[in-house]
Amino acid sequence: MSQYLESEASFEGHLIGFLYRQWLIYRKPIPTGINVSGQTAIVTGSNSGLGFEAARQLFQLGLTHLIMGVRSQARGDAAADKLRKEFPESTISVWLVDMESYDSITAFVKKCETLPRIDITILNAGIRCDNFTTVKATGHEKTFQVNYLSTILLAILLLPVLKSKKLSSNSSSPPRLSIVTSDTSYWADPLKAGPVVPQFDIPEEYKPMRSYPRSKLLQLYFVSKLAEQINADDIIVNASNPGFCKGTQFGDGAVMSFISSVRFWIFQNLTGRTVESGASAVIDGIVVKGKESHGSYVSDWGIRPYPKVLYTEEGQDIRERVWEETLEELNFAGASRIIEEVKR
Ligand SMILES: NC(=O)c1ccc[n+]([C@@H]2O[C@H](COP(=O)([O-])OP(=O)(O)OC[C@H]3O[C@@H](n4cnc5c(N)ncnc54)[C@H](OP(=O)(O)O)[C@@H]3O)[C@@H](O)[C@H]2O)c1
Repeated sequence: MSQYLESEASFEGHLIGFLYRQWLIYRKPIPTGINVSGQTAIVTGSNSGLGFEAARQLFQLGLTHLIMGVRSQARGDAAADKLRKEFPESTISVWLVDMESYDSITAFVKKCETLPRIDITILNAGIRCDNFTTVKATGHEKTFQVNYLSTILLAILLLPVLKSKKLSSNSSSPPRLSIVTSDTSYWADPLKAGPVVPQFDIPEEYKPMRSYPRSKLLQLYFVSKLAEQINADDIIVNASNPGFCKGTQFGDGAVMSFISSVRFWIFQNLTGRTVESGASAVIDGIVVKGKESHGSYVSDWGIRPYPKVLYTEEGQDIRERVWEETLEELNFAGASRIIEEVKR
């Protein structure tokens, strides 16, 4: 488990660790015998990039029913058609979920309640915004809202649904939920003392490559604490990292000077993984890894250390603040009560 891997955290957080991961750790094949036929999976943000490819790889492993959680019906339908062509036996439902809207998330979860079973949940939808933009309904900065607050709300609301489906489906293994995170969390700017949430909503301090890694680091703080509250026999929760990839829509349209975009292009082409490879690391985290991954950071087809800060006293203090403030923020939807109920 990640909590015991402190000694490896410095290396992972170093540039050499990044290059080692990207260049020298090769995609491990999914072990033979892993078959998810009969199972149902939810994948958010599955109309493109890593989410789409993760869905494809689940079908290659025999998945029976896919719920594509997408924000655009047209983009979702187009992606579903591609998958249906490749996997004609599959059942695919395209359901709307806009991660900028709590109402949309709540409605999506209500629909999930109607499913006979849910075995695999990959919360993959994510963004990186060039400019400071707030989500009107909540007043929070968009990257923080989508990648962190909304993703965590969706995870929490799904917990009782997953637990109840486990009981009714008589499945031998617990349902699994993975939040797609990023190893940019290793380089995230440290959080300051004091309340955490307001630190994300300061326009003057906004930088895309500051907010994005921090939003991913928050996911790790939260997942590590959440896993302590939930029995892995009920639901396995982890965070999975695809690694730096080329060929997704991520960062498309980013505003960069000509020189910066040439530099980024070279860097991405020298170090980026293929989408197939990145998605396979996520699939490993959700179908190969089991209870041993509960609360962990799964990356490069293995369980890897958290960012260094999580092992420090300061990090533990931040983790408590992140936990409390997040629940407070999401208690309008009963977040604390839901976690208490799932614990029982
Ligand atoms: N690419 C990388 O190198 C890399 C590395 C580490 C982690 N990741 C993570 O992997 C995940 C997928 O990224 P990707 O590279 O595959 O990028 P992508 O191709 O841009 O996919 C992102 C997906 O998220 C969806 N999305 C964005 N905002 C949404 C919202 N408000 N509501 C619902 N869906 C929304 C997008 O939908 P639309 O098509 O409608 O915009 C799209 O389907 C992200 O969480 C990202 O942080 C990526």
